Amino acid sequence: MTRTLPRTLPRTLIDSLVAEKKIVVCVGPGGVGKTTTAAAFAALAARAGRKTLVSTIDPAPRLADALGVSLSADPTPVPAEVSQALGIAPGLLHVARLDTARAFATLVEEQVADPRMRRRIFDNPIYRQITTTLTGSQEYAATLALYDIVRRGDFDLVVLDTPPTAHALDFLEAPRRIEDAISSPAIKWFVKPVGGGRFSLQRVRAGGAVILGRLAKFVGSRLLEDIAAFLTDFQFVLGGFLERAQSIGQLLRQPQVAFLLVLGPEVAAVDEAIYFAGRLNAAGVPLAAFVVNRVHSPPGAIDADEIASRLRACPETAGIAAADIDLAAERLARTAVDFRQLTDGERRELARLAEAAAGIPVWEVPQLGYDIGSLAALRTVGDHLGTPRP
Ligand SMILES: Nc1ncnc2c1ncn2[C@@H]1O[C@H](COP(=O)(O)OP(=O)(O)OP(=O)(O)O)[C@@H](O)[C@H]1O
Ligand SMILES: [Mg+2]
Repeated sequence: MTRTLPRTLPRTLIDSLVAEKKIVVCVGPGGVGKTTTAAAFAALAARAGRKTLVSTIDPAPRLADALGVSLSADPTPVPAEVSQALGIAPGLLHVARLDTARAFATLVEEQVADPRMRRRIFDNPIYRQITTTLTGSQEYAATLALYDIVRRGDFDLVVLDTPPTAHALDFLEAPRRIEDAISSPAIKWFVKPVGGGRFSLQRVRAGGAVILGRLAKFVGSRLLEDIAAFLTDFQFVLGGFLERAQSIGQLLRQPQVAFLLVLGPEVAAVDEAIYFAGRLNAAGVPLAAFVVNRVHSPPGAIDADEIASRLRACPETAGIAAADIDLAAERLARTAVDFRQLTDGERRELARLAEAAAGIPVWEVPQLGYDIGSLAALRTVGDHLGTPRP
């Protein structure tokens, strides 16, 4: 199934990951460039000849437009002209969009055959809460979707974009959190069969009557009834949820899975990345690389005289008085000095990251001067990921 890589490619991040991995997960905090990195990486892999799926989460509309697919939950090949612009053979790059509700629904449908019970579960407000707003539900849904895609085995490589997490570890811990939540004593108490029969509303009413009576005053008896009704039906799927959470936990720890941690070149981001690398290591999950996105290039000059002479050399400044050029150069020099401090700081952070997480490659992607909503920009990001490091 795995295709042979063209021999001309240099040994780069893409080269080794593409050749050795089946799942690449892009994790990181909000807005750092996870979706961009996932799309650019998937395009590179497809360019190297692997049938690749990128599973995205709320991509920026311009990126979705550029990819030219309507982004349904079903993997869809990008149109021929998009493949061509990205240098990919037709049919190798596919895109899907995570549909949280559908990921949960698929799991319920697998566990519950009775259509009326399915309906009751889907219509229950508690189910909707758990599957939409509960912390970690989107992360867990992303892992559920991944599990389904991998199980179907249609792709050589799946690149998984992940939701913006407050903490990069949230994603990895999502299956275990769900597992903990499901196996919590409170849920077990609710679900425990009464007198050999299965869980019933009576248990809620009789068992903890006093506590629940008080609770109902605060939360309303309607909510308690919803909880009870939900748990009555849901006990049939609990086992399935638990089992799936465990399988996903194992899947994410397979050697053919690689994590890419996307981060910005700032102190706090690097602190978190170092911590994350340690935690992943302890959890036995391989972190393949850091992708430090939006790194600024240092200014070409910070000295006012040098800036002035460069300005004079520009044909656009012909006819501008020398004094005006000098004044502009002085102001530009002040900005350039500030900017240089920023870029020096970024370099220090990159060096600190490389030193603290020795052995894990650090890949840099520059801050582009334009928003990444075009195939050309996606290719530029890909080129940086695909460039051998010095
Ligand atoms: N290297 C870059 N240069 C310029 N703009 C960039 C770069 N990388 C990403 N962007 C822009 O930053 C924005 C956020 O990027 P992206 O959507 O990939 O981040 P994300 O981590 O997926 O965000 P979220 O956590 O909200 O899902 C987008 O508008 C994207 O075009
Ligand atoms: Mg995103």
